[in-house]
Amino acid sequence: MKFFADTADVDAIRELDALGLVDGVTTNPSLIKKSGRDILEVTKEICSFIEGPVSAEVIATEAEAMIAEGRKLAAIASNIAVKVPLTLDGLRACKVLSGEGHMVNVTLCFSANQALLAAKAGATFISPFIGRLDDISLDGMDLISEIRQIYDNYGFETQILAASIRSVNHVRDAALIGADVMTAPPAVIKALAAHPLTDKGLAAFLADAEAAGIKIV
Ligand code: E4P
Repeated sequence: MKFFADTADVDAIRELDALGLVDGVTTNPSLIKKSGRDILEVTKEICSFIEGPVSAEVIATEAEAMIAEGRKLAAIASNIAVKVPLTLDGLRACKVLSGEGHMVNVTLCFSANQALLAAKAGATFISPFIGRLDDISLDGMDLISEIRQIYDNYGFETQILAASIRSVNHVRDAALIGADVMTAPPAVIKALAAHPLTDKGLAAFLADAEAAGIKIV
């Protein structure tokens, strides 16, 4: 499973990257707003040290305008994935931009049928939003399962990018189902390492090392 960092916070991406935990990055207008930076400038900086796909989202809603914005975003670096919303205009933009050889991430996916359309439009990634479905008392993970089955049924190469991940359990469940990629906030990715028995065991080992006078360097 590939790990994407769901943030436009450059320092947070660098910290995770040093751990070998960043295969790519996803941003959206809300995350750009949170960073307080210009979208073109911050995206360019991220692409200067992240080799994997970096998603940057269009803000136009009409296909031709989305295509123009997508081309501008794609010109930032060769690893840009243009993010378009799952609307009919977004699907048309996806078809054109992917036909030009750009990676396209179709976002705001909330149903299996939407994911089917994105695959047919040539999307590189489909982003089903798990957390936002959970927020309205649906099961976001069911959507990941349905898309996995449909894509496997027909051999679609579009990668399932489990998005709107809010917890470590979301990561585990998406991995069990076989999502190709998950994107999560840095805090969730770091929390994957935490276990109370690891902390307890380490404390006991260190106490014994001190009692035994063990020295290595
Ligand atoms: C990533 O591509 C999505 O924009 C992001 O995961 C949405 O997460 P949220 O629902 O927590 O805002």
